[in-house]
Amino acid sequence: MFSVSLGGAARLAPLEVWHAEEFAGHLDRAREHIRPWVGPAFVTDDTEGARATLQRYAARQADDGARLYGIWREEVLVGGVMFTDFDAAFGNCEIGCWLEPSAEGHGLITRACGLLLDWAFTTRGLHRAEWHCRADNQRSAAVAERLGMTLEGVRREAWPYGGVRHDKQVWAILAPEHHGSGRSRGQDAG
Ligand SMILES: CC(C)(COP(=O)(O)OP(=O)(O)OC[C@H]1O[C@@H](n2cnc3c(N)ncnc32)[C@H](O)[C@@H]1OP(=O)(O)O)[C@@H](O)C(=O)NCCC(=O)NCCS
Repeated sequence: MFSVSLGGAARLAPLEVWHAEEFAGHLDRAREHIRPWVGPAFVTDDTEGARATLQRYAARQADDGARLYGIWREEVLVGGVMFTDFDAAFGNCEIGCWLEPSAEGHGLITRACGLLLDWAFTTRGLHRAEWHCRADNQRSAAVAERLGMTLEGVRREAWPYGGVRHDKQVWAILAPEHHGSGRSRGQDAG
């Protein structure tokens, strides 16, 4: 299938319904790591649950909405990035991401999200991309910052998890503020 190199042995490619078993196996490695930080519907327990997530994204993509991409490292699915929201008419989108623990710390997410921003702003002509994260999710906020996003505000106690309502940060970048993913500058994210 078509894929884009993320440097080293890593690549980004569409994550589709036919990957359901592979996605479920990956979630077994990622589930407890991502559970506190992502939407509950994304944290499924078996292949049918994983398939339902992939089908939900496929249906929304067919409507030019949300989209899901996997990151494979040495041909193992280790995480991914997505447009959790994509509204071409209004020129707005929202980007999300996750990794299993073994894949953290290599710049894979920063590189992959840069490619999503390139596509949204350059190919599709969108104007604004948002990033939502729990205010205590430092690794996620660090990605937003590396992508050149601005912290626009905090939605107080908007994120219920484990019986506690957490603050949620809203970061965003506008098309003229995005200077490309760096792919052409030859950065390596092995
Ligand atoms: C959020 C999450 C995806 C971030 O992963 P990450 O590995 O920190 O982010 P990146 O892949 O961009 O890698 C950045 C790290 O790689 C390092 N790195 C190495 N090469 C790099 C490169 N070429 N470019 C950028 N960073 C690079 C950076 O220094 C940084 O490491 P550090 O945090 O130790 O300083 C991950 O922590 C995760 O899955 N968390 C749980 C789920 C979650 O929170 N999802 C987001 C919900 S809002």
